[in-house]
Amino acid sequence: VFHTPESTPTKMVADCAIAVDVLRATSTIATALGSGAEAVQAFSDLDKLLAVSETWAPEKRIRAGERGGSQVEGFDFGNSPLDCTPERVGGRRLFISTTNGTRALQCIEAAPTVLAAALINRRAVVQHLIQHQPETVWIVGSGWEGSFSLEDTVCAGAIVDGLQIELGCSLDDLAGNDETIAAVSLYRQWQDDLLGLFHHASHGKRLLRLNIIEDLKYCSQQDVLDVLPIQRELGVLVKA
Ligand code: MLT
Repeated sequence: VFHTPESTPTKMVADCAIAVDVLRATSTIATALGSGAEAVQAFSDLDKLLAVSETWAPEKRIRAGERGGSQVEGFDFGNSPLDCTPERVGGRRLFISTTNGTRALQCIEAAPTVLAAALINRRAVVQHLIQHQPETVWIVGSGWEGSFSLEDTVCAGAIVDGLQIELGCSLDDLAGNDETIAAVSLYRQWQDDLLGLFHHASHGKRLLRLNIIEDLKYCSQQDVLDVLPIQRELGVLVKA
């Protein structure tokens, strides 16, 4: 487990790398694919997103831009998973750029397998790992501008906890670093009140100040979406 893109080694040695941005990019990506989006293409840079999406027919694309929790002016969506209904995203490509989540995806894009995880699709991620048994797995939290975030770390812990239960092994068999043990401990303490944890989290508080309460509730649910976002080509995620 790595808490932020900044603390993730630059040399990619993982067989499988998982980006986590519970609030809210990876929750939005999984929801969009679950609602029938053809693919999600992630960009760290807004101008690049605009340039690439410009080559797509307007009825086949949705542009989602978020900075500081708010929608970027001129974009169709901000970063709310609740906007990603089948009516709005079905059959379209979601072009997305967010403050931290899309940077986390970019920092692991060289891995042979790249997944996007949130609490809502945690079980789908765990099932994939059990089926494919990659030897080295990195779980990378997006954090906030280089700092640790509670919600991403608790999700990393939820994934490792799920693996440990399914495999019936000890935590030491799975844990590659101390961050992993810390993430699992955090999850075990808060697993029955994840929404309560989000109210303590700095980004949770930021979203609450923006009155984004329903997203917090939605993103705090566990295992409600059987969708595994997987990278098909650089920066492009599809439903596995
Ligand atoms: C991010 O990328 O930092 C987040 O997804 C921000 C947000 O809640 O929109």
